[in-house]
Amino acid sequence: MTQVPKPPDLLVVQNLCISFGGLKAVDDMSLTIRRGGIAGLIGPNGAGKSTLFNLIAGYHRPTSGRVLLDGEDITGEAPHILFGKGLLRTFQIAREFSKLTVRENLMMVPARQTGETYIGALLRPGRVRAEERALREKADEILEFLEITHVADLPAGSLSGGQKKLLELGRTMMAEPKIVFLDEVGAGVNRTLLYTIADAIRRLNRERGYTFCLVEHDMQFIAELCDDVTCMAEGRLLARGSVEDILSDEAVIAAYLGKGRAAKGTGLAGTEVEAVT
Ligand SMILES: Nc1ncnc2c1ncn2[C@@H]1O[C@H](COP(=O)(O)OP(=O)(O)O)[C@@H](O)[C@H]1O
Ligand SMILES: [Mg+2]
Repeated sequence: MTQVPKPPDLLVVQNLCISFGGLKAVDDMSLTIRRGGIAGLIGPNGAGKSTLFNLIAGYHRPTSGRVLLDGEDITGEAPHILFGKGLLRTFQIAREFSKLTVRENLMMVPARQTGETYIGALLRPGRVRAEERALREKADEILEFLEITHVADLPAGSLSGGQKKLLELGRTMMAEPKIVFLDEVGAGVNRTLLYTIADAIRRLNRERGYTFCLVEHDMQFIAELCDDVTCMAEGRLLARGSVEDILSDEAVIAAYLGKGRAAKGTGLAGTEVEAVT
C-alpha cells in the first residue's frame, strides 16, 4: 500500500458563516492551520473569534462553509466526535468538578482512543487496579510536566486562576490531542503563571507535536509563541501573516483603535507588556 502524504495544513476552514438574529457573527471566514504550528487568532472584542472556535469545535453548526481536519470534512460534527479525532477546545473546569482533586480532574478525562472512562473502568473490577494505576501515572506525569505536582491533592476549586488554566491544559494532555484551541488562556492570569503557560504550550508543541491555535489579547504572548497570525474583525478575515507583519498592519491597528483598544507606540507589539520568556 502506498502511503498518502498528509496535507501540510492540519486544519482548513473554508468560508464559514453563522448569524445570531440579524448579526453575522462569523461571515465568510477562512483559515488554515499548519501541522505542528502555533497559530494566533486576534481581533477586537466581538470580532467573532470565540464563535469561530465554537464552530470549529462543534459547539455551533455553521449555516455554510466547511471545516476539514487532516483532509476529512468534520463540519458540524459533535464535540465528543471531534474529541475522538484529536480536536479539542479547552473549557473552564466545571463547577461540579471543583470539589474533586486536581489529580482526579485529570483522571476523569476519557481516553481518546477507546472512549474508556475512569468510571467505566470501575465498573469492570477485574481491570480496575491496573487501569487506575496507569491513569494515575499518566496524570502524575502531566502534573510534573506542568510543574503543578504540589497541588495534586488539592480540590480544583481552590486553585488560583492561572493554576486552573494549567489544569485545563493538563486535561487536554490526558486526551493526547492533535490540535488544541485555547481561547484567552492568559486572561486574568498573573505574569509568572503566564510565563509557565507559554512555556508549557511551547514544550507541548515542540516535544509532543501538538498543533495550537490561540486567541489571546496579550500581544506579547502572541508574538512570543505564534509563527502565524490571523486577524478577524466584524466576523471576517482582516489580515494574515507573520507576527511582525500583522502587528504593524495598518488595517489591523485601525480595527483595534476603532474599538477603543488603542495600542501605544508604533504598532500593537509596542505595548508596555513585558516579554513572556
Ligand atoms: N450565542 C450567541 N448568541 C447571540 N449572539 C452571539 C452569541 N455568541 C456570540 N454572539 C455575538 O457574536 C459576535 C462575536 O462574538 P464572539 O465570537 O464572542 O467575539 P470575540 O470572541 O472575538 O470577542 C458578538 O457581537 C457577540 O455578541
Ligand atoms: Mg471571545
